[in-house]
Amino acid sequence: MKLIEWDERLSIDKGVIDEDHQKLIEIINRFLKKDGKYESAQELVDILDELDAYTIEHFRNEENLQRISGFPDREAHYNEHHRLTRTLEKLREEVRPTGGSYVNVMGEKVGDFLREWLFDHIFKSDMKMKPYAEKLRRAEEAAAQSAAAE
Ligand SMILES: [Fe+2]
Ligand SMILES: [Fe+2]
Repeated sequence: MKLIEWDERLSIDKGVIDEDHQKLIEIINRFLKKDGKYESAQELVDILDELDAYTIEHFRNEENLQRISGFPDREAHYNEHHRLTRTLEKLREEVRPTGGSYVNVMGEKVGDFLREWLFDHIFKSDMKMKPYAEKLRRAEEAAAQSAAAE
């Protein structure tokens, strides 16, 4: 089982979004460390609950950045967030605190979902925000400098 490591190449805004993604990687690693061995379905429920709490604020952070920076693909990105949220809700409904082989099947489903999130959403869609986040940061730095010069 190989854990995921944060890497500078994953950086998007050197700020709140990077912190959010680091948190998501922590959650994914907690899942990976289980290595498919669950004491109970509750362990999966806990991971999904944590993911759910994280998602609301994170998606809001990204959508705010997109609005302020004039990111062009906002609607498509919003739809992806909506789909991830729906899938997460469905998984949470499906995972019931029962044991047996059921929990392993659910564990695999959750694994597929987390992989899709990381590789399809973060690596492909979130990365498109990077130039916009940089432009915004430069504008903010310039504004701070001219304010300091006054
Ligand atoms: Fe993200
Ligand atoms: Fe996103």
